Amino acid sequence: MAEPGKPITLITGASSGIGAALARRLARDGDHVILVARRLRLLQEVSEGIVASGGSCEIAVCDVTVGEAARSCVSEALRRHGRIDRLILNAGGGDRTPAEHLTGEEMRAALELNLFGVVNFIEAALPALLRQGNGQIVAIGSIAGYRGLPRAASYGAAKAALMNYIESLRIDLAPKGISVTLAAPGFVATKDTKKQRAKPMAMQLDRAADLLARSILRKRRYVAFPRLLAWIAAIMRLLPVGLYDRLIRALDRR
Ligand SMILES: NC(=O)c1ccc[n+]([C@@H]2O[C@H](COP(=O)([O-])OP(=O)(O)OC[C@H]3O[C@@H](n4cnc5c(N)ncnc54)[C@H](OP(=O)(O)O)[C@@H]3O)[C@@H](O)[C@H]2O)c1
Repeated sequence: MAEPGKPITLITGASSGIGAALARRLARDGDHVILVARRLRLLQEVSEGIVASGGSCEIAVCDVTVGEAARSCVSEALRRHGRIDRLILNAGGGDRTPAEHLTGEEMRAALELNLFGVVNFIEAALPALLRQGNGQIVAIGSIAGYRGLPRAASYGAAKAALMNYIESLRIDLAPKGISVTLAAPGFVATKDTKKQRAKPMAMQLDRAADLLARSILRKRRYVAFPRLLAWIAAIMRLLPVGLYDRLIRALDRR
């Protein structure tokens, strides 16, 4: 059980990468974190690290793509703590597949994880947040959701859908006292990105977690990083299609 007064923060995808680093960072700042993912052993390692540093946390094994699992994860958190202050929906990822090998199955899987994995938790937790009249929803999108990128059709489309969905919720929920933070990272150096070819301006994991944590605590509505890459990507959004395609192909060849 969390000490009274500690913010209750549920983080999906907390067994590795950005989610684990963010959980460690927020626990250090005093949040009681509920670590959600599928791999129990990794969750236990993250939990042991947090407790060894004086933080408080608990583990919930859950596949975010399963609506029923998300509902029981949220109701168990509410049963134990009576509230959720921050709902951080970070679980995500995807394959890099050239268009000629892309299947409907991969597209559906990308949407199940990156979009419905978030929808499932918001649907389960929103009634409680609305009753509380406060709370924060945080979603981790991607700069890959801005515009089409090579071999990123499934992942990019799923992140684009997620970001549009979250932006819409942000507008709807602000008058009801619920703040929404959307993060759009570029590259963050995790195990997943190590497999990729080009990682322009990749940010170190702890730096990314620190920046994310500060943005969450300040209830920023939107944060994109690394800042230079975010600016370049924002400008590239405005380019006409012919120029955009040539530039992206040239960058992809490097
Ligand atoms: N790293 C980057 O450069 C980068 C850039 C932009 C956006 N992002 C986004 O940042 C988020 C975190 O990515 P990361 O780089 O930290 O990747 P990661 O190290 O692969 O972590 C992904 C996390 O999601 C969890 N997860 C995956 N499928 C799940 C499922 N069905 N149910 C529950 N949990 C699931 C994984 O845990 P289990 O396998 O244990 O379930 C893991 O904890 C993702 O949304 C990703 O798209 C990352």
